[in-house]
Amino acid sequence: MSWVDELRRREDLCRRAPSAHNTQPWLLRYAEDEVTVHWDPDRALPDSDPTGRDLFLSLGAFVETCLIVATDAGLAVRADVTVDEADHRAARIVAADTPYRTPFSAGAVERRRCARGRYRPGRLSRQTVAELGAGLRHLPGRELAAMLSAADRRMFGTPAVARELRQWLRLSPRHPRYEMDGLTDRALGLGRIEAAGLAAALSPTAYAIARPLGLPAMLAASSRSLLRYDGSVLVLVGRAATADRVVEQGRELLRVWLSLSERGLAVHPLSQILDCAATARTLEGRLNLKPGESALAVFRTGRPMREPTRSARIPAGRRHDHGLSTAQT
Ligand SMILES: Cc1cc2nc3c(=O)[nH]c(=O)nc-3n(C[C@H](O)[C@H](O)[C@H](O)COP(=O)(O)O)c2cc1C
Repeated sequence: MSWVDELRRREDLCRRAPSAHNTQPWLLRYAEDEVTVHWDPDRALPDSDPTGRDLFLSLGAFVETCLIVATDAGLAVRADVTVDEADHRAARIVAADTPYRTPFSAGAVERRRCARGRYRPGRLSRQTVAELGAGLRHLPGRELAAMLSAADRRMFGTPAVARELRQWLRLSPRHPRYEMDGLTDRALGLGRIEAAGLAAALSPTAYAIARPLGLPAMLAASSRSLLRYDGSVLVLVGRAATADRVVEQGRELLRVWLSLSERGLAVHPLSQILDCAATARTLEGRLNLKPGESALAVFRTGRPMREPTRSARIPAGRRHDHGLSTAQT
């Protein structure tokens, strides 16, 4: 069996990579001696992620996951990251002379998951942060609590962003795509009543009526306590001048999340802080960035009080909505 076939047999594991809103934007194309990683533009988030930052970070996380899965299977491969926007291609995975060097196994890919509930109090030690990598900044969570509230109000108060979120929410097990993609009630840590309340609040009619009456502030209030404890927030800082660079930063982000996960620490991304211009400015001001640097990902991290749920994935080879297939030859 060729290395391409070996990797293809493991596509489901590669698909455990994280992606914003669990959109799983990747498409793999298998050729004789190369696998190319493309994206499905119908799975981008044009309103929530207009610059494509989260799209390219997610694609980078996927590329890194593919390399880890291949290496675990004894395959020697490497990735060439060259984004081609016209062809919606992020990278090529090709044979290499030596295996990719990674401390992570396929088991680590399986174990990693986001956790959005409460965490035990306690901050990361300086040594842990130093071990995680140079591009990370560590802040006490409390410092970002007001930023998170403002960013949530903006997120829930911007109709196009709320609509896009609604499209990817799966708030009841009866949703036809509950086991496939998007954000489920369980992944969001919502009880039945909370999930039903959120679904009702974001329904088009209720949203149109309640938005001017303070709905965004009400929805934002539910996350108010998320950072009001003695916990850690990490910010991935890097240069994002080109899409290629952002994909590379996505690879770095995945390595950081796996390093944390292997230490028993979960992450909860708070991208809305970067999506809101005002809070992004406040955060970047607090970090004293050098010219050309920007904050690319923000997430709280710690030991979750409850075991997080395993999120849904579209199985490899399964044709999914939008008329696209997940794998093509
Ligand atoms: C670039 C990026 C941005 C993300 N932003 C958020 C976010 O703002 N809020 C959130 O709750 N999850 C966020 N996530 C986490 C995804 O929703 C999560 O990876 C996906 O639902 C799959 O779940 P899993 O990571 O537990 O496998 C983000 C993930 C990525 C890769």
